[in-house]
Amino acid sequence: MTRGSLLVDHIGELVTNDGRDGDPLGVRRDAALLIEDGQVAWVGSARDAPAADRRIDAGGAAVLPGFVDSHAHLVFAGDRAAEFAARMAGERYTGGGIRTTVGATRAASDDALRASVGRLRTEMLRQGTTTVEIKSGYGLTVADEARSLRIAAEFTDDTTFLGAHVVPAEYADRPDDYVGLVCGPMLAAAAPYARWIDVFCERGAFDADHARAILDCGQAAGLGVRLHANQLGPGPGVRLGVELGAASVDHCTHLTDADVDALAGSETVATLLPGAEFSTRSPYPDARRLLDAGVTVALATDCNPGSSYTSSMPFCVALAVREMRMTPAEAVWAATAGGAAALRRTDVGRLTPGARADLIILDAPSHLHLAYRPGVPLIRQVLHNGVPR
Ligand code: NIG
Ligand code: FE
Repeated sequence: MTRGSLLVDHIGELVTNDGRDGDPLGVRRDAALLIEDGQVAWVGSARDAPAADRRIDAGGAAVLPGFVDSHAHLVFAGDRAAEFAARMAGERYTGGGIRTTVGATRAASDDALRASVGRLRTEMLRQGTTTVEIKSGYGLTVADEARSLRIAAEFTDDTTFLGAHVVPAEYADRPDDYVGLVCGPMLAAAAPYARWIDVFCERGAFDADHARAILDCGQAAGLGVRLHANQLGPGPGVRLGVELGAASVDHCTHLTDADVDALAGSETVATLLPGAEFSTRSPYPDARRLLDAGVTVALATDCNPGSSYTSSMPFCVALAVREMRMTPAEAVWAATAGGAAALRRTDVGRLTPGARADLIILDAPSHLHLAYRPGVPLIRQVLHNGVPR
């Protein structure tokens, strides 16, 4: 017996994501899992389970890796419920409301922003998210981007500098100057707190030349590349991301065959964000087309006050299955292992020896129930780093 060990026993269905026997989910029936020092130490059949200091009886329920939400904008103040109501009454989403949130965020105190991120992080954890990426992008001054990332870094290692979210109002007639600011003093202030750099490459935000310049500077400063691309219409973003070796291109709603081919021949993950299509009443991305082409697909919430104010990965899984032609198994994989791939992480998104002991015990016998029972709170218990939360 190992001191401090914890056995999760009587697991009816264990999703490991180990990919064995051609099953990407690596499902094991009647399983058990041993946790030591916050990591998975052993996985096997319940009847072979080793002794441990403590035990959780899963009672025949399904156990999954914690969700990896690889795309979230959590550092903001205020909300845009009125903008949502206007959309549901027929208005189009353009991204123009981002500036409203920038105003509210700049006016907020550090403590208010920290409390707001903490509230959303807690909301996510309750819904099974054990790893989250957090972007800046509602500060858009040197000081406000740096503090957004400083606060984000209190909650996650996967922080992303999104100074190139939109051109702020005070630079509206000189976007080149803003790109210079982002690549110069803003990047210098942000980089100590950031792992990634991201650009909203879209008509009305940043074009391919600006995006390339900003991502090049970010890479030179040691940041990994990710990109918002092809959300509102077709464009160069996805191919630019692939060319620059981005870990992920996100949204991918409007793709040409050339975009799909580029992704299929690359290591870049396509991260789909169905909460955004839901909340902007837009056509969903075609996950089936990407999967059939051999592209690695991730699902994430895009949690933000404008286009997708959900923190729920189970909701995104259900949308992906119902609206995007993913099977439940593909959606669960994309929300766990796919998210890990999008963050280039090998320690999360799977339940195999050596992985971080981040797991969800469902109030259901199978992962299928996440899509089959949409909107139902099925997350019975979450363990983060092996600790029940
Ligand atoms: O990912 N597309 C750009 N950024 C966010 C939306 C931000 C907002 O509307 O506040 C997104 O959808
Ligand atoms: Fe986003």
